[in-house]
Amino acid sequence: MDRAKLPAGNGTTERLKAPPKRKLHAMKNDAQALGADPIDAALTVGLKDLWFPVCPSGFVKANPVSLRRLGYKIALWRDTSGKVHALEDHCPHRGAPLSLGVNLGDRIGCAYHGVQVRCDGTVTRVPGSPGCKLEGSRPTRMFHTAESNGAIFLFNATDPAVNEPPPLKLPEQLTSPEWSSFLCYTEWGGDYRYVIDNVMDPMHGAYLHKQSHTMSEGDMTAEFQIRDLPEGFIFEKKGQRDVNFDWTEWLDTGIHLMRLEIPYPKTGGPGGSFTIIGSYTPIDPRTAGVFHWRCRKVSGWQRDTWRFLYKNRLEQRHWNVLEQDRVAVENMEPDANQREHLYAHDAGIVRLRRHLRKLAEQQLARQASNA
Ligand code: FES
Ligand SMILES: [Fe+2]
Repeated sequence: MDRAKLPAGNGTTERLKAPPKRKLHAMKNDAQALGADPIDAALTVGLKDLWFPVCPSGFVKANPVSLRRLGYKIALWRDTSGKVHALEDHCPHRGAPLSLGVNLGDRIGCAYHGVQVRCDGTVTRVPGSPGCKLEGSRPTRMFHTAESNGAIFLFNATDPAVNEPPPLKLPEQLTSPEWSSFLCYTEWGGDYRYVIDNVMDPMHGAYLHKQSHTMSEGDMTAEFQIRDLPEGFIFEKKGQRDVNFDWTEWLDTGIHLMRLEIPYPKTGGPGGSFTIIGSYTPIDPRTAGVFHWRCRKVSGWQRDTWRFLYKNRLEQRHWNVLEQDRVAVENMEPDANQREHLYAHDAGIVRLRRHLRKLAEQQLARQASNA
């Protein structure tokens, strides 16, 4: 189920309308982010040379669609085999949106003057001026795509003409036949990094979600520790496992992912704890694409039981919990993270922010040396 598709009132359109005063503040903040600190500017649009989920599979059909993601406006469409292609939504002739054009399989024909752009960014035909220099050139940014687990992923390459992206590497919860999952997608009116902070903060479960059937247990105070792992780190409560939202793991496999576990009561059906894989993609500086795969290790008849139970009973409860997070994140001021007083429970957030800034710094150094 995709929350972003729900009608206004529950959906995103209405939620994204900010009061003018806040908008002004947000704009000032964006300008600061883009002007003052290049590291922050790099993080605002999402780090390069990583895979990002950009939308549920159902968003892209044969007719090109336009999405803003990762600092770009992107045209996506499917060819006759169903493969998804993605180009910057900007015709190289005079900048009309390619998404208004015609699907020609592996190419789009621009609606304005018919220039044809292939999925690798090459102009194959200029019908108004055959043989002109634009033909055969490759002026349009292309994005490598992958489709898996109900979502479309893009590789956010520094070099727009990179021929071979690294493979998309997803965790076992999304690749092993022993697991079964549902994607839940939504869009929140806040910086995607606030969404990351929210997930890297297991302690909020005992407070914000204290009414929830799955999260009412657990200590209201806890000590935490950080453990390094081969592909990231885990931030976990000391001496408490399988009680509530006890830990969050950060993973970098060429895509940034977060993993956490919510223990389930027996009434939650077969499959033991509920694992959530999260990934968060900037849509614009004030909007985040929020991807959560809700996974359980179940096979055979137990899988069918769980899938039935999930659709009929559990899904709505999970949306209710997520709604509490959304309200908290969306109502934080854009500069809230510059006026904080952090304490021990926030060590995971501090560690992750520092890590992301280091990755952004390395990216800027790479870009400078290639310039
Ligand atoms: S703007 Fe696209 S063909 Fe002219
Ligand atoms: Fe939460």
